Amino acid sequence: MLDKLQLLENKRKEAMLGGGEKRIADQHKKGKLTARERIHFLLDEGSFEEIGMFVEHRCRDFEMEKQIILGDGVVTGYGTVNGRLIYVFSQDFTVFGGSLSETHAEKICKIMDMAIKNGAPLIGLNDSGGARIQEGVMSLGGYADIFFKNTMASGVIPQISAIMGPCAGGAVYSPAITDFILMVEHTSYMFVTGPNVVKTVTHEDVSSEDLGGASAHSQKSGVTHFSCANEIECIDHIKKLLSYMPQNCEDIAPSYVYNHSGNEKRTVLNDVIPLNANQPYDMREVIEQIADDNSFLEVHKDWAENIVVGFARIAGRSIGIIANQPAVLAGVLDNNASRKGARFVRFCDCFNIPILTLVDVPGFLPGTDQEWHGIITNGAKLLYALCEATVPKVTVITRKAYGGAYDVMNSKHIGADMNFAWPSAEIAVMGAKGAAEIIFKKEISEAADKEAKLKEKTDEYTDKFANPYLAAARGFVDEVILPEDTREKLIRTFKMLEHKVVNVPKKKHGNIPL
Ligand code: HXC
Repeated sequence: MLDKLQLLENKRKEAMLGGGEKRIADQHKKGKLTARERIHFLLDEGSFEEIGMFVEHRCRDFEMEKQIILGDGVVTGYGTVNGRLIYVFSQDFTVFGGSLSETHAEKICKIMDMAIKNGAPLIGLNDSGGARIQEGVMSLGGYADIFFKNTMASGVIPQISAIMGPCAGGAVYSPAITDFILMVEHTSYMFVTGPNVVKTVTHEDVSSEDLGGASAHSQKSGVTHFSCANEIECIDHIKKLLSYMPQNCEDIAPSYVYNHSGNEKRTVLNDVIPLNANQPYDMREVIEQIADDNSFLEVHKDWAENIVVGFARIAGRSIGIIANQPAVLAGVLDNNASRKGARFVRFCDCFNIPILTLVDVPGFLPGTDQEWHGIITNGAKLLYALCEATVPKVTVITRKAYGGAYDVMNSKHIGADMNFAWPSAEIAVMGAKGAAEIIFKKEISEAADKEAKLKEKTDEYTDKFANPYLAAARGFVDEVILPEDTREKLIRTFKMLEHKVVNVPKKKHGNIPL
């Protein structure tokens, strides 16, 4: 019996070493942690239960039978983060470069099935040279199996992908289907085709980092939601992100004990809006005042900055915030801002996270670039996402709400439960000067002093429409509130909406304008 126990111990030791000490040292030299070290930092101490430690690949070509490494390049299992169950896979670059074999894929699929069945988030720590070249189509099939399960899990359990090394070719599509991607600066990259193929096909000279590093994807493409300075920061971000989410689509996010005073005024909000309506201000200042202290976690911080999205807490409860950002492009809605907002709204709706919309929007961005890149379809994504969302939806119009963007930004008409406006709100078809130029064109052109006439008519339009009271008279705005009372109103409103139920018409699924 002792021999048998010893055999198990030896096999475990062997598996723990992955590709061996030299390759582990190489991994550390690159500034990267090993697959097991990453799991160690992610999970609560002592909570990890490994599954499939002794799995071996089945490849018998290219003398692969002589290179069997226990676990086959991916560590899989479950554990807890702040006491809550999660499933995790962590690719081991020291074993065939973390490349994906048939059995490596099977291990990932097994824990995905368990995560779906048991209703807990799935965290993927990716560090892989892609398809195991020695296995050919078996490996491609393994990828497809993972893509399919990612899709089946979508909207059922939260899925988070951290990219901590290479992620190239079709391999990028598993993270892309998941809910959130985090990348580590300088040690990770994602691309469909690498620099060599790019050079051959388009003659562009580009490095891996410029093509698909964390900064490219956090600032240019929007593929990654978070860019992290190092792996520890990345792991901390995963934990923080999880804290706003429920375990699955039938659960609600954890809430934190909050001692509500019953009258939470934030007087600084009264001075946020500049006197000149065309002057910018930072919507994050509003968010900081409205949300619980230091609770705002911004998502997609460096991409499409004219819209701000992220998680926060109000009186201890998770909410998702989507807010125009007047400090960037006057908060206009464009292609990327619409896509960013829509994707975030859909995540919140999948997982029962109430949505707060903060509105200061001059409209949609005009121009050939926007039209030819599909602002019609992209704007419709945001509109559709907010229309279909059945979670509690609350809106605060701080200043401008013009044109179609008024409708899109969670207006009463598309199902918002409670719409507030500050006294500084301007709700109209368009800005006063533009409106006056169109509807009083004849009068202005015939006037002796055209400038004076235009000003007179602009002022007339401003007096009539640049306020929240016409909308309030129709009930499109439920209440005009003092900025200082916003937080208190929101605490009460979200509490009031806690048990909201909506019955939607029976359908297979909608057809969002993708
Ligand atoms: C098998 C691989 C491998 C792979 C790396 N290795 N990639 N083994 N299949 N795909 C092995 C290497 O042989 C080496 O083994 C070890 O991993 C580390 O690799 P290095 O090249 O020494 O490391 P590094 O210099 O850091 O370069 C990492 C790398 C490079 C950039 C990932 O290895 C690379 O370009 N690999 C090939 C990538 C690729 O073309 N993959 C297929 C893409 S197509 P030893 O024994 O020396 O330690 C694809 C399609 C997916 O993935 C489609 C899904 C639908």
